[in-house]
Amino acid sequence: MGKVRKREIVDYLNAYLRIKEIRDISLNGLVVDNERETVGMIGVATDASLDAIKEAKDKGVDLLIVHHGFYWGSPLYIDLWLRKRLKYLFDADMALYVAHLPLDIHNEVGNNYGAIKILGFDAIEPFGDYHGIPIGLKFKVKDGISTIGELVNIISQRLFKPKDVWHFGREEVDFGVYCSGGCLSILDQVKREGMDLFITGETSHAYYTNAKDMECNVILLGHYRSETVGVRLLGEHLKEKFGIEYVFVGEDTGL
Ligand SMILES: [Fe+2]
Repeated sequence: MGKVRKREIVDYLNAYLRIKEIRDISLNGLVVDNERETVGMIGVATDASLDAIKEAKDKGVDLLIVHHGFYWGSPLYIDLWLRKRLKYLFDADMALYVAHLPLDIHNEVGNNYGAIKILGFDAIEPFGDYHGIPIGLKFKVKDGISTIGELVNIISQRLFKPKDVWHFGREEVDFGVYCSGGCLSILDQVKREGMDLFITGETSHAYYTNAKDMECNVILLGHYRSETVGVRLLGEHLKEKFGIEYVFVGEDTGL
């Protein structure tokens, strides 16, 4: 496979993912540029960790695309740990592109739409409000699957085994909300809209009793795993669009 101009890929990603339009605390887009003008190998990862950067360097990646970057809304000190990440990027002359919320909510390769498509359910509409952004996705469970147990089986077979299932609501499920990552802050919205189920990545302590008292079913997939979906689909998409190979890199945090 050949090489493609980096600028062409970056311009395409900016438009396709609506990088400038979607307000996000994460600094998205090409956050670290490199001197090479062409890309022959793309890396995709959930996190811009040192492990991911090292692995990408070993695999000859020119452009690394991640979901979780470095900059989260405020200036940051380049302490030693961050300096190491940047040094590896510079030494490898590798560029880093970040797509956080734009990749969560994208209607083809997003973490939410992508997972619902893999599961074979019907995506209905964006759902929930997170600083003005609908970060979740309302879906309808396919006919023939009606209980929480059946749903957990489908998810285990087609996506990955859930880390936890809070069976607090009714047994029969019809409509649910899917939101990758750490998304339980919209739990009350899910319940208020009468959904039977909320599927998300990770939780924190207080949400357990909240969900129980709301009688809301919650399936927890793990933050990391739920956010491997979008970058993989984006890698596939870029391979088809530009004919460039991609590799998935990085460490499964198990969280
Ligand atoms: Fe995340």
